[in-house]
Amino acid sequence: MAEETAPYGAGAAKPTEPAKPVAKVRTAHLREMKERGERFSMLTAYDMYAAATFDEAGIDVLLVGDSASNNVYGHATSLPVTVDELLPLTRAVAGAASRALVVGDLPFGSYQASPEQGYLTAARFMKEGLAHAVKLEGGAEMAPQIERMTSGGIPVMAHIGFTPQAEHALGGYRVQGRGETADRILADAHAVQEAGAFAVVMEMVPGDVAARVTEELAIPTIGIGAGVECDGQVLVWQDAFGLRTGRMPRFVKQYADLHGVLLEAARAYDADVKGGTFPGADHTF
Ligand code: KIV
Repeated sequence: MAEETAPYGAGAAKPTEPAKPVAKVRTAHLREMKERGERFSMLTAYDMYAAATFDEAGIDVLLVGDSASNNVYGHATSLPVTVDELLPLTRAVAGAASRALVVGDLPFGSYQASPEQGYLTAARFMKEGLAHAVKLEGGAEMAPQIERMTSGGIPVMAHIGFTPQAEHALGGYRVQGRGETADRILADAHAVQEAGAFAVVMEMVPGDVAARVTEELAIPTIGIGAGVECDGQVLVWQDAFGLRTGRMPRFVKQYADLHGVLLEAARAYDADVKGGTFPGADHTF
């Protein structure tokens, strides 16, 4: 008798058929992957070359995060970035990705006021940004927005736990859901699922709480600082690949030192130009 594959997370369905490679990742595929006990990957992307490279690498979901506020526009928080600043980045990523699911992140102030405001903003991300889905921050209090968007044909990824747009309200970057507040995370997770979200990001949530949410929900969970039991993982690419330097959050693993590579290349170019060795004969008409 063939040995059974260990289930991924208690309560997860047993793996059935091996996955067929998909030409285009859809929201339903993420759910099927969860049901099969397969994990998926997500990275942020804000421009064409990064998006095309991550897509080629097999990253399943590309998030045009409002973290563009920090990583593209140089702000200290995600709060200042606007819809009009994110839409061209979303369109660039959507145009460059042929396989990945592209998710546009709704920025602060563009959906919280009412379900109608949220729907109209999300529709712009789908029509003008060419996103395949949108993400918003918040749990139970965002259920009316999620319901409005999904009933109007817009797939929604929710984001609970530490939500960077609420940095000032939460009193800074803090792990959410420790001790008794774990119940709040569970309630938020269930609320966004009930409202129709197709997946939920959990940021800076204790690993055991995230594992419980992952076990209880039918929709996939995506962790960032939420342990290994989530169905998928997401990181900001400049953190993961070392373009950003300095102190990193504990949940970041660095896979490359792109800052070092770029610095060396820029210094070599500078030296060539100043030393008169570039352009050479090969580069001259
Ligand atoms: O904007 C972003 O990069 C995000 C991720 C941290 C999930 O929301």
